[in-house]
Amino acid sequence: MPETTPFVRFTGVVAGYGGGDVLKGVDFNVTQGGVTCIVGPNGSGKSTLLKAVSGLVKPRLGEIWFKGVNLVGKSPREILKMGIVQVPQNHSLFREMTVEQNVQLGAFLEHDKRVVAERLERIRSMFPIVAERAGDKAGSLSGGQQRLVEFARCLMLEPDLVVLDEPSMGLDPKTLRVMFATVKQMNEAGRTVLLVEQNARQALKLSHHGVVLENGRVRLTGTGAEVLNNPEIGALYLGGSLEEARHAPVTGGRDG
Ligand SMILES: Nc1ncnc2c1ncn2[C@@H]1O[C@H](COP(=O)(O)OP(=O)(O)O)[C@@H](O)[C@H]1O
Ligand SMILES: [Mg+2]
Repeated sequence: MPETTPFVRFTGVVAGYGGGDVLKGVDFNVTQGGVTCIVGPNGSGKSTLLKAVSGLVKPRLGEIWFKGVNLVGKSPREILKMGIVQVPQNHSLFREMTVEQNVQLGAFLEHDKRVVAERLERIRSMFPIVAERAGDKAGSLSGGQQRLVEFARCLMLEPDLVVLDEPSMGLDPKTLRVMFATVKQMNEAGRTVLLVEQNARQALKLSHHGVVLENGRVRLTGTGAEVLNNPEIGALYLGGSLEEARHAPVTGGRDG
C-alpha cells in the first residue's frame, strides 16, 4: 500500500441538518490504496461524515480535499464523476429490476457500450452472483446477496474511492464474512475504501487505518490494529473483551 500524501483530507469539517452541528470540526486523512474504517457510537456522526464526502450534506465550515479539489460545495453528481461512489446504509437496489439491470445502471456515466460490456464481464468474474442470478429480480435476493450486488454496481464506475456505510447491517455471520472478504478483494483490486462499521472488530482487522468518531469529533486515529488494541476504545466502543476479539474468526484479517 503506497504511503503517499493524503488521498482524502478532512480539515475542520462542521456539518449538520439545521438543528445544530452534528460534525464539530473533523480532521483526518484517508490514505490512497488503503481501507480506512470509521467506528464510533450510534449518533456520533459517521453517516453524516460519509454524506458530506458524497455531497449529500453540505458542511457549514471546513474542507474535504480530494485530488487537489475541495469537495465542499460540489454536487453529488460532480463528486460521483470525480470517482467517489457511495453504497448507502439502507438497501438501494431497484427491487423490480433484474440483478444485471441494476449492475448495468452503475455505469450510467459511461456511454461507450463496449467499455460497459467489458466492465460487466470483469464484475461477473469477481461477483459470481451477478452471473448466476443475472435475470432474477433484485428484490428476490437475500439481504447479503443484495449487498454484494450493490458492491458490484458501484464498481461498474471503476471508482477511485468506495464509500461504504455499515455494509454489514442485517447480515448473518456467514454472509458477513463473505461481505468483508469482498471489501478486502475490492481494495486489493485497487480501490481505496472508506468504511463505517458497527461490526468494529471485524472491520478494523481488515483495515489499514482506524478512526474513532465521538460526538462529532475525531477521538483517535491509528492503524486498524492500534485502534482495535487501544484498551479504552475497546472497552468503550467495541464491546466484549479484547481476549474475545483476538480469537474471533475473521476472513481476510490483516496481521498485527
Ligand atoms: N436527515 C437528518 N435530519 C436531522 N438530523 C439528522 C439527520 N440524519 C441524522 N441526523 C442526526 O444527526 C446525528 C448523527 O447521525 P448519524 O450521522 O446518522 O450518526 P451515526 O451514523 O454515527 O449513527 C444524530 O443525532 C441524528 O439524529
Ligand atoms: Mg449511520
